[in-house]
Amino acid sequence: MDKKGRKTGVVSEKEIENQREFSEKVSSVLSGIYNETPLACVVTYGCQQNVADSELIKGMLSKMGYGFTENRTEAKLIIFNTCAVREHAEDRVFGNVGRLKTYKRENPDVVIACCGCMMQQQHAADRIKLSFPFVDLVFGTHVVYRLPELLYKALTRKKRIFELPDADGAIAEGIPVLRDNDSRAWLPIMYGCNNFCSYCIVPYVRGRERSREAEDVINEARSLIESGYKEITLLGQNVNSYGKDLIPNVSFAELLERINALPGDFRIRFMTSHPKDCTEELIETMARCGKIAKHLHLPFQSGNNRILKEMNRHYSRERYLELINYAKELMGDSLSVTSDIIVGFPGETYEEFKDTLSLVEEVKFTALFTFIYSPRKGTPAAEMPDPVSAQEKGRWFRELTSLQEKISAENMKKYAGKSFKCFVYGKGKLGDNYLAARTDGNLIIEFEGDENLIGTFQNIKVTEPLTYVLKGETERK
Ligand code: 5AD
Ligand code: SF4
Repeated sequence: MDKKGRKTGVVSEKEIENQREFSEKVSSVLSGIYNETPLACVVTYGCQQNVADSELIKGMLSKMGYGFTENRTEAKLIIFNTCAVREHAEDRVFGNVGRLKTYKRENPDVVIACCGCMMQQQHAADRIKLSFPFVDLVFGTHVVYRLPELLYKALTRKKRIFELPDADGAIAEGIPVLRDNDSRAWLPIMYGCNNFCSYCIVPYVRGRERSREAEDVINEARSLIESGYKEITLLGQNVNSYGKDLIPNVSFAELLERINALPGDFRIRFMTSHPKDCTEELIETMARCGKIAKHLHLPFQSGNNRILKEMNRHYSRERYLELINYAKELMGDSLSVTSDIIVGFPGETYEEFKDTLSLVEEVKFTALFTFIYSPRKGTPAAEMPDPVSAQEKGRWFRELTSLQEKISAENMKKYAGKSFKCFVYGKGKLGDNYLAARTDGNLIIEFEGDENLIGTFQNIKVTEPLTYVLKGETERK
C-alpha cells in the first residue's frame, strides 16, 4: 500500500479509465478512416502466457472497433506477440516481420506492431528500430494494458513509437478479454519469475513475480464457469510460488481449493510447476479435489545433479523422484506427468546426459517437451564454455525423443479397455463423424458421435490405442 492506502503494484482505476478514453478515441479515428470494420491480425509465438496476453490484446482491439483475420494481407493492423525463450522463435519473428516490407510499402496506412518478450531485450528492439523501419509500434511486456493509448499515438502521429519500460509491470484488472475458445480458458494468476535459472531469459523480460489477488482470480474463474467454460488453466511461470507476495499470504494449494469449491461441472488445470516449490501439500490437494485434473506438468530439465546445480534449479534428482513417487502413490493410474527437458546445457557430458535418459525411463512420462539448449544473451549460461558440437547434441536429442516414443507407445497400450471422463472439445481427425475429447491427463481420445456432444463431459472407453491418439466409444449409460 502507498501512503494514501492505494494498492501498489496494481494499475489504478483512474489509469484504466484513461485507457478506456483512448479506446474510444481510437474507435472514432478508425471510423473516420475506414467505411467498413478494419481487420486486425494478431500473431502469437511462444507459451500460454503469450496466448493469454494476445487474448487481452484482442479484447482491447475488439472494443476499439477492430474485427479479426488470420490473413496478414487483409489486415489494417498486424501485431506480432513475440517469444524470446529460444533463438529459433526469434529468427521466425524477424523472418515474418521482414516479409511485410512490400505489403507496408503498398499499403502505408497499415499499422505494424511488435510486442512480447523478445521486444523487451534491448538488442532485439534495436534491430527492429534499425533494420525494420516499417514497424510503427513496439511495446514491452509491462505495458500491454496501455495498447489503446499507444495505438492512438501510432495512428495519429507520424512518428514510430517504442514503449519499453524496464520496471516490473503493475497488474491491470478489468481489461476486456477476447478468448480464442469458448470452452477452455487461460487464466493468469501471476506474472514474472524470480528464479533466474541460468539458461533462461524469462526473468529478464517479464520481471519479478507478482501475484494477482486471490479474489480477482476467483471472481474471474466464477464468471468463466457461469458463462459455460469447462476447462480453466491457471497460468504462471512458477505457480507453486503463487501468493508469497500477497498480504496476507495465500498458498497455491489454498487458491486451488477455493476454485475447486466453486459450483458447476468444470475442470481446473495449472502450469507451470517448479520442483523446488512443489510441495506435498499441493500434491495432496490435487489428489483430494475432484475438479482438479490429475495432470502435473513438472519440468525437471536435467536428471543430473551437477547440471541441475549449474542450471540454478535448487532441487536434486532424488527430490524430484520423491515428489513424483508421492504423486503416483496418491493418484495411481489416474495421474499423468509431463515435463520439459534441455539437452546439451553448456558443459554437459554424455555421461551426465545419460542421467536424463535414466530419469525418463524411470518416471514414464505421458509426454515430454524436449529442447536443445539455446544460448540467450545476458543469461549466465551464455557465458559458460560449451564444447559439445551441435551435431552431437542433435544425436543426444534424437536418442531422448526415440526413448520417449517407445515409452509413449507402451503407455498408450496400457490404456486399452480403460474408461475416462473426457471433455469433448471439438471435431476429430480420424474421420468425418469423429469427435475429439481430452482426458484429465491431457490424452486425446477420438470417438464417433453427434456434434451436439461438443462442450460436454462424456465417459469414453478406449477401444484402440493409436500412436498419438486413442480411439474410443462413449459408454452406454
Ligand atoms: N534453451 C533451451 N530451452 C530453454 N527453455 C528455457 N530456456 C531455454 C534455453 N535457453 C525451455 C525450458 C523451459 C521451457 C519453457 O523452455 O525447458 O521449461
Ligand atoms: Fe525460466 Fe526457470 Fe523462471 Fe521457468 S522457473 S521461467 S525456466 S527462470
